[in-house]
Amino acid sequence: MHASQFLFLTFSVLTLCNTDTGLNLTSFSPHTFSDLFAALSELGYGRIEYTGTTILTFPDPRTNHSASLCTATCNILGAILTNVTSQPGSAPYFEQQADYWSNQQAETLPACRVRPQSARDVSASLLVTKFFRCPFAVKSGGHACFAGASNIQSGLTIDLANLNVIQVSDDRTLTQVGAGNLWGNVYSQLDRLQLSVIGGRVAGIGVGGLTLGGGISFFSGRHGWACDGVRNYQVVLADASIVDVNDQSFPDLYFALRGGGNNFGIVTRFDLETFPQAGMWGGMRSSPLTANVSLLTALYNFAIDAPSDPDAALIVAFAFYKGTYFTSTDLEYAKPIVNPPIFNELVSIESISSTLRITNLTDLVEELNASQPHGLRELYTTATFKNDPGLMTEVVEIFISEVEGIKDTEGILPALVFQPITTGIISYFGKNGGNALGITESDGPLILMNIAVAWANIGDDDRINTAANRIIDRSIALAKSLKLHHRFIYQNYASQRQDVFAGYGAANKQRLIDISRKYDPEQVFQKLQPGYFKLGE
Ligand SMILES: Cc1cc2nc3c(=O)[nH]c(=O)nc-3n(C[C@H](O)[C@H](O)[C@H](O)COP(=O)(O)OP(=O)(O)OC[C@H]3O[C@@H](n4cnc5c(N)ncnc54)[C@H](O)[C@@H]3O)c2cc1C
Ligand SMILES: *[C@@H]1O[C@H](CO)[C@@H](O)[C@H](O)[C@H]1NC(C)=O
Ligand SMILES: *[C@@H]1O[C@H](CO)[C@@H](O)[C@H](O)[C@H]1NC(C)=O
Ligand SMILES: *[C@@H]1O[C@H](CO)[C@@H](O)[C@H](O)[C@H]1NC(C)=O
Ligand SMILES: *[C@@H]1O[C@H](CO)[C@@H](O)[C@H](O)[C@H]1NC(C)=O
Ligand SMILES: *[C@@H]1O[C@H](CO)[C@@H](O)[C@H](O)[C@H]1NC(C)=O
Ligand SMILES: *[C@@H]1O[C@H](CO)[C@@H](O)[C@H](O)[C@H]1NC(C)=O
Repeated sequence: MHASQFLFLTFSVLTLCNTDTGLNLTSFSPHTFSDLFAALSELGYGRIEYTGTTILTFPDPRTNHSASLCTATCNILGAILTNVTSQPGSAPYFEQQADYWSNQQAETLPACRVRPQSARDVSASLLVTKFFRCPFAVKSGGHACFAGASNIQSGLTIDLANLNVIQVSDDRTLTQVGAGNLWGNVYSQLDRLQLSVIGGRVAGIGVGGLTLGGGISFFSGRHGWACDGVRNYQVVLADASIVDVNDQSFPDLYFALRGGGNNFGIVTRFDLETFPQAGMWGGMRSSPLTANVSLLTALYNFAIDAPSDPDAALIVAFAFYKGTYFTSTDLEYAKPIVNPPIFNELVSIESISSTLRITNLTDLVEELNASQPHGLRELYTTATFKNDPGLMTEVVEIFISEVEGIKDTEGILPALVFQPITTGIISYFGKNGGNALGITESDGPLILMNIAVAWANIGDDDRINTAANRIIDRSIALAKSLKLHHRFIYQNYASQRQDVFAGYGAANKQRLIDISRKYDPEQVFQKLQPGYFKLGE
């Protein structure tokens, strides 16, 4: 086949409507085949042999349209990013599919996977998948639970795992962190230098998803959430350009990336504010369920008092495992001090076990990682309340009453988790022009509630989803009746059915939509990347 024939046929396909995804192809500024190669050549992928059908499978519009368009995408990527594009059936594809936390994501099978090695590779991947209108997903640490969040059935998965630079500046105030890093790797490098950044609390979590959704850290009392510690984002925008986004270069986009999730671009590097950090004190403490009221009262008091000691962090969880309900409290302190006074009330509560010790951040996040195994079905869902011990106690009762109905499910491990969003933490949400989350100091202190359920079998999905939704819906209804509900829905803990951006407030949601239309007029990240939380109309 001659190249000219090939170009003509390809172009004629691209003017058709993609019936599978319902996309109007002409609305994505159509390029000709030679446009694509001109763009790729500009990026440095100039010497591509594209006359053979071994590289390009010609998409036939009479067959499964989106499948053949993704096949073409995968063939081109296989040609230009040879050693990092993996096709179904290959060993790398199989291994990378196991690199998700939940089975719902691991069972989602993309047409191929690509692991770009640079921002330029990400840009090329986006150009090609856009050209063929092949739906795509982007993955960092792969800890989002539900199917399609960072993997995509029959589409292209862009896996950022090879973007793994960790580079501290000479003056030790900034660390460039590639978007495919896991927090455990970041901390183990920084611990050696007695430095740290604001990031996740479990070693296996990705830098990408956690930071784009907000990001609760052990250091949030002192520095805010992870999104408040990003000084600069290196981003591939919808038009495939690679830009640095900060409060000087693109203040609106910088605001949007601080909580806007995957809606504005593919972030290839986060430049994180870096601070001195050495020893810590912390660990897990378990108490019997009968301690529920004292624990929740201590949490209530902590949420009010914590701004007086910003080195302290607290998580209070209720869980059911192998026939028993129990509580698990995580206490962390950013200095190597045993039993700091801020935790007096908490440590005076009866305990069954405790791992509290002087240690370092790497060790603490590995401890938490060990209690969060891969390979199960998983669900997260969330709500936000005003700080009130009576409400929290009743939410525990709702949790128990619903878990009673599903506790015979194979492999079940349900948890109810409370975390404070103190006024001290919220004070950093306004830093550098503010983040997108829509929470102000007058809202606080708030209590973030989340339900996390793990189970074994797909056949139980419906009953687990139903029970978890009932816990959240009943808790929200109760909080509303007591005028203790807050609209915020934390993206990193939300379930697929929740409207995260409505939870940021109408004004912030509209601002995000406007910024998305400005930088992504074709709405590539809304339409061609269907997974996770979208901005809506
Ligand atoms: C065991 C466990 C512990 C957790 N601990 C914490 C915690 O301590 N603090 C906290 O705040 N949250 C925590 N979370 C929630 C966590 O922040 C979210 O699950 C988050 O989405 C995980 O990020 P990831 O990169 O691992 O996930 P992924 O599934 O890879 O990504 C999540 C979403 O973000 C998008 N995305 C990721 N990277 C990029 C990028 N570079 N550019 C554009 N889009 C991108 C993906 O497309 C996807 O839609 C925890 C979750 C689990 C399961
Ligand atoms: C697709 O979009 C183009 C440009 O916006 C428009 O002219 C055309 O009518 C649309 N086609 C369909 C089938 O909706
Ligand atoms: C298109 O292909 C995908 C997987 O390749 C399949 O799941 C889907 O059912 C197919 N659609 C049609 C209409 O054949
Ligand atoms: C892939 O190939 C590029 C050059 O084409 C090379 O720089 C890179 O190291 C290779 N990566 C792997 C993982 O082999
Ligand atoms: C962190 O603590 C662990 C456990 O005590 C220890 O093995 C490790 O060497 C420490 N790392 C650093 C960098 O201090
Ligand atoms: C919660 O604590 C209260 C007060 O100690 C106790 O009466 C109640 O039984 C506890 N709830 C459960 C479910 O154990
Ligand atoms: C986290 O735990 C899982 C086991 O569930 C393990 O495979 C993984 O290597 C751990 N990750 C880190 C970064 O420690």
